[in-house]
Amino acid sequence: MKILVINGPNLNMLGIREPDHYGKKTYLDLVSDIKAHSEKKGIEVELYQSNHEGDLVDKIQSAYGTADGIVINPGAYTHTSIAILDALKSVNIPTVEVHISKVEEREDFRQISYIRAACAKTITGHGTDGYLEAIDFLLEGK
Ligand code: DQA
Repeated sequence: MKILVINGPNLNMLGIREPDHYGKKTYLDLVSDIKAHSEKKGIEVELYQSNHEGDLVDKIQSAYGTADGIVINPGAYTHTSIAILDALKSVNIPTVEVHISKVEEREDFRQISYIRAACAKTITGHGTDGYLEAIDFLLEGK
């Protein structure tokens, strides 16, 4: 089983950006936590981060025929990107939406998720552990 974990804009700034919302772990800490978890579960994982919408679309398309599941935190593109929604619908791979913060308790503009319609599950407010829970959800579905 192979899972692709995609992070969108500003998630490379984890540990620096707004720690009250996103905690103190860095992006590299997140990468090593996900790799350790995947190894323990005996699955293959690929991690990708970009600040660019089109690059995220390209990466989702590249999962077609190569990945069994996608875990995605599209950052602010969650609330704006029909292109990412369409890419997820195009590849039709089981996908989990993750947000580190509890988006439902934040600003009005964070209440819309365009990508949710293409996701089997959404995990919010569990910090970086949400990514590991998302992987477990995809594994259980197998
Ligand atoms: C986020 C929430 C988004 O609203 C925000 O733009 C992010 C991170 C989260 O992980 O909580 O960049 O997706």
